Amino acid sequence: MRQLPPKIAGDIYYIGVFDPDIRTFDIVMRTANGSSYNAYLIKTDDGVIIVDTVKKEFQESFFKSIETLCSYDEIRYVIIHHIEPDHSGALPELIQRAPHAKVLISPQATMMLKALTNCEEINFEAIWTNKQLTLGGKTITFLTTPYLHWPETMSSYVHEDRLLFSGDVFGSHYYDKRLFNDKVGDFSYAFAYYYDHIMRPFQSYVKSALKLYERFEIELIAPLHGPILREKPEQYIELYRQWSHKIEQHKAGKKILSIFYLTSYKNTQEMAQAIFEGCESVEGVVANMYDLASIEAQNMIAILEESDGFLIGTPTINADAPKPVWDLLSCLMFLDKQGKCAGAFGSYGWSGEAVDHILARLKSLKLRVPPLTPLKIKLIPSEQELKSCYSYGVEFAEILNGKLVEIDLA
Ligand code: FEO
Repeated sequence: MRQLPPKIAGDIYYIGVFDPDIRTFDIVMRTANGSSYNAYLIKTDDGVIIVDTVKKEFQESFFKSIETLCSYDEIRYVIIHHIEPDHSGALPELIQRAPHAKVLISPQATMMLKALTNCEEINFEAIWTNKQLTLGGKTITFLTTPYLHWPETMSSYVHEDRLLFSGDVFGSHYYDKRLFNDKVGDFSYAFAYYYDHIMRPFQSYVKSALKLYERFEIELIAPLHGPILREKPEQYIELYRQWSHKIEQHKAGKKILSIFYLTSYKNTQEMAQAIFEGCESVEGVVANMYDLASIEAQNMIAILEESDGFLIGTPTINADAPKPVWDLLSCLMFLDKQGKCAGAFGSYGWSGEAVDHILARLKSLKLRVPPLTPLKIKLIPSEQELKSCYSYGVEFAEILNGKLVEIDLA
């Protein structure tokens, strides 16, 4: 006989599945400890609520767990906090099997729901923050927590159990069938790594979600991946609070301007130095220089994150910017780019396309690229050209500091 799935709170059961062998998640995340796709089932006097589903390839185990707890006819609601396929993969089959179930999603998930199930006739309701579901002695408040980490993500709070279903928030890619944070080993690296890769680009949304959570007494956090947080859940909330506020505390009101450069014959480095001096002459701006030839990706991310603006100095080799420059740009994927100012400069030998390529990329990433004349210098910069670099630095820093200019977002 199949064992009953584990209970995580009063009449709330774990019906998630384990993926211990996954080693790369969403292409960019390494998952040395595997992962889990957490889903839950709430039994009430008036029917059953399913909270999220699992990746499609694991759905049979998910359905078996449901079948040990209830019949499909008893399912009244399916709450989908996040519609990414690792949590909604089993939904199309579930709505076939549970004919009386209504799907509850955030309004932003409406179009995605249809695209995901390829079905126009789904019984669903879109729910905003503060909407409540009361069923058979359970009261659930819904909280819109967008961009954590898709536009449609939401959380919910079960009042009777003081339980937060947090979606991907507070998740970890860390498989351990012992389930609870006080039972599994030290997963702190996975918790921090998950924040860095999934939540960090959306820090302002993390702050908004934490504000929404503040009004609830939370004794248990049930995320969509990794351990369920029942011992000292407040410590995990505090970590998110610190990480999402780290940059403002560190900067203390100053504007940080980072100048990254790559150089073969020190020509682009000389330009960077002159620009740096120009930037530094502007009050309220702190400039720093970084040689891209010897900087680790993790350090690039940290520097870019705290930078209000950054400049990239690049030579042109075979009509392109060398790889370390593109590596730097790829780090922006992990960051909140909103409002950051950026530009490019460089010395070249023949044709100097690299600066234009980088400027185009910065614009396509929707960074603020001030409409300054592109700073490209053929081979060794003259005294006069270094003066132009200094002036460029002054002008860029002033714009960063709030001087009004027309910004080209095209
Ligand atoms: Fe766990 Fe964003 O999916």
